[in-house]
Amino acid sequence: MSEQRTPLVEMKNVSISFGGIHAVEGASVDLYPGEVVALLGHNGAGKSTLIKILSGAYKRDGGEIVINGKPADINNPRDAKKYGIETIYQSLAVADNVDAAANLYLGRELQTPWGTLDDVAMEAKTREVMGRLNPNFQRFKEPVKALSGGQRQSVAIARAILFDARILIMDEPTAALGPQETAQVGELILQLKRDGIGIFLISHDIHDVFDLADRVFVMKNGKVVGHARTADVTKDEVLGMIIMGKVPPGATAGPGAIAG
Ligand SMILES: Nc1ncnc2c1ncn2[C@@H]1O[C@H](COP(=O)(O)OP(=O)(O)OP(=O)(O)O)[C@@H](O)[C@H]1O
Ligand SMILES: [Mg+2]
Repeated sequence: MSEQRTPLVEMKNVSISFGGIHAVEGASVDLYPGEVVALLGHNGAGKSTLIKILSGAYKRDGGEIVINGKPADINNPRDAKKYGIETIYQSLAVADNVDAAANLYLGRELQTPWGTLDDVAMEAKTREVMGRLNPNFQRFKEPVKALSGGQRQSVAIARAILFDARILIMDEPTAALGPQETAQVGELILQLKRDGIGIFLISHDIHDVFDLADRVFVMKNGKVVGHARTADVTKDEVLGMIIMGKVPPGATAGPGAIAG
């Protein structure tokens, strides 16, 4: 179904080394609108490094990035933002001492025609965006530090949405959260998906991944072992890809696959 459409993102044969270490080697991944693609693999497999190339945090040594069918020139985070790429980290990058609206508009505050802060407009827009993401959220007047981890994560996501994110990278967005808050972020992800946003999700939780992701890419030692639709493989088969690099029949092998 999605195969006929133009991918939002194609990373083709991307590589980067640090000193002598090939952190990412010949990795190819793609993402379609309204799709959640999980990146899986052991610690040090190269997942974060790969998506940092997409977010402009690292400059690749080789390979190509194509956005909406056109080669993209991404050399720094500003470039990435121009292509609608935003990143949400596990570290909950929010400003603790101010409220949700101030977080959404941090560094790009709205002003009235008289040059003062337009708090009314900022709060109205914040209520609109948060209301769409998390209808139960009511704590607009409180500093973000008073919110739960899941609520804080929804503020961070709302901020990305306000930046017109079309491509959202979530690097272990629930690693710092409890089960209930993790479920809340899962709901947010499904909402973003319905809005046609494409999401790269890095997670170590195979159950979350199967609940949320349409496809998975497994990395090992900087290479893509293989990829599959979650509907076509079992959790055990995906664990086999992560641990042994063994590609099951329902998956497509990558350069990091073990033969046989
Ligand atoms: N800035 C850097 N300088 C040197 N080496 C780096 C740098 N960033 C990553 N690496 C190395 O690249 C490899 C891949 O790391 P990366 O952080 O991408 O792994 P990961 O798959 O995200 O792991 P985790 O699940 O632990 O987050 C590791 O060997 C790591 O030590
Ligand atoms: Mg990582």
